[in-house]
Amino acid sequence: MRTLIKNGTIVTAIDEFVGDVLVEGEKIVSVGEQIDATVDHVVYANGKYILPGGVDQHVHYSFEFKGERVRGFETSNAAVAGGTTTVVEFVNQEQGKGMADTIFEFDKNEVSQKAMVDYSYHAVVCDPVDTTFEEIKNLPNRGISTVKLFMAYKGMPFHSDDEALYKALNAAKEAGVTVMVHAENADVIDILQKKYIAEGKTDPYYHALSRPARVELEATQRVINLAAMAEAPVYIVHVTAKNVMETIRSAKNDGLPVYGETCVQYLMFDENDLAKPNFEGAKYVMSPALRTKADQEALWEAVDNGWLNAISTDHCGFDWKSQKHMGVDDFTNIPNGAPGVENRLGILWTHGVNTGKISRQRFVDLFATTPAKNMGLDHCKGHIGVGMDADIVLYDPNESFIISNENSLHGVDYSSYEGYKQEGKVDKVFLRGKLVVDDGEFVGKKGDGKFITGKPFASCFDNTKADKELKSV
Ligand code: URP
Ligand code: ZN
Ligand code: ZN
Repeated sequence: MRTLIKNGTIVTAIDEFVGDVLVEGEKIVSVGEQIDATVDHVVYANGKYILPGGVDQHVHYSFEFKGERVRGFETSNAAVAGGTTTVVEFVNQEQGKGMADTIFEFDKNEVSQKAMVDYSYHAVVCDPVDTTFEEIKNLPNRGISTVKLFMAYKGMPFHSDDEALYKALNAAKEAGVTVMVHAENADVIDILQKKYIAEGKTDPYYHALSRPARVELEATQRVINLAAMAEAPVYIVHVTAKNVMETIRSAKNDGLPVYGETCVQYLMFDENDLAKPNFEGAKYVMSPALRTKADQEALWEAVDNGWLNAISTDHCGFDWKSQKHMGVDDFTNIPNGAPGVENRLGILWTHGVNTGKISRQRFVDLFATTPAKNMGLDHCKGHIGVGMDADIVLYDPNESFIISNENSLHGVDYSSYEGYKQEGKVDKVFLRGKLVVDDGEFVGKKGDGKFITGKPFASCFDNTKADKELKSV
């Protein structure tokens, strides 16, 4: 099957031009200003942008918080409808079981038949025994190139201490596995949470006061130091605050392989959203907490300059009525996280590209190209180019609509972006050549998505050493 997409504005991370894309089977086989070919279908993209399908490197389709579980891959049509064709899911290791075995059991039972989006996995350390750290070295052989540790969430099965972090960093660097870290000081949060609850301060707003930016800053500084001591790269997930971003930037300027992402919600919302009345604030309970308008501005500057290299969603589909209300008398029981995978393209386009905060090229880089590289998926994802998977979004900039939960596919009872205007609309999406969104409507089916192998990185520190040796010759 050959499809020719004609006369659209093709946007990559470094380029933009009006042209055509030729798709054969699952792959892009030609990209150019004018392609003449005998094909089965021609799709005219006049006036539309041709973008690479998004790669959301941070989603949760299996996260559990105090017994409450998020919506799973049966809702992954939401990702595709929003222009994201690949997601990377965190799978918490089961006690006494290997990380990869946990992942592929979950894959078999809950993902492979249901996924409507392509996907890859992050391993998550929950059982910090020697065999777990040994296993990290073998993860690339199972197609996993990242491992996550949570410095936050004291008392939860997925919390890790510094010993686990340092061991993981040492094991990971040898194998080209990237260590990803949720950086917050769990002990301080625990003390502050208990203090506020004891004082009767139980509203969602105290979620922010119990996890101030300094708990994120302290943990970020600590893990950067641990990574430097282990001579390993480290990736800080969901960066929320100016001073945290500056810490990452200065480590980078010192030559350390320290990287970070932010998420759409930290660019859009602030701590005042947590103060919304009638328990509406619970919709914005996520960790780290929402910050200030000044932090938002700093984060926009950071993504524009590459100090943070990706924008994810940390998608977490908890229901407000049936799940977030668990914490109606105690904010510490509100399941952490919010949905958003469906809105990443539209919100970033409207509030980033159309406001001039980021260029279209920068948008594509943050939305697809660099996340694919971070995850070792750039062998087939994140770029409109010959040999890449034909994951293609046609985005119509002349459409607009008001976001509402009623029209969302994410399977929960609220949207964080309810009432927000979206400029532009996803018109068509191709997932490995298959049309899965047509005229804005999802037309794919369960099982369309497939597992994509993450490839390990080539060690940065080894290269540095090799460079030094070369220079000294
Ligand atoms: O509040 C959040 N972010 N929930 C999801 C789990 C995590 O910390 O990433
Ligand atoms: Zn986290
Ligand atoms: Zn997360």
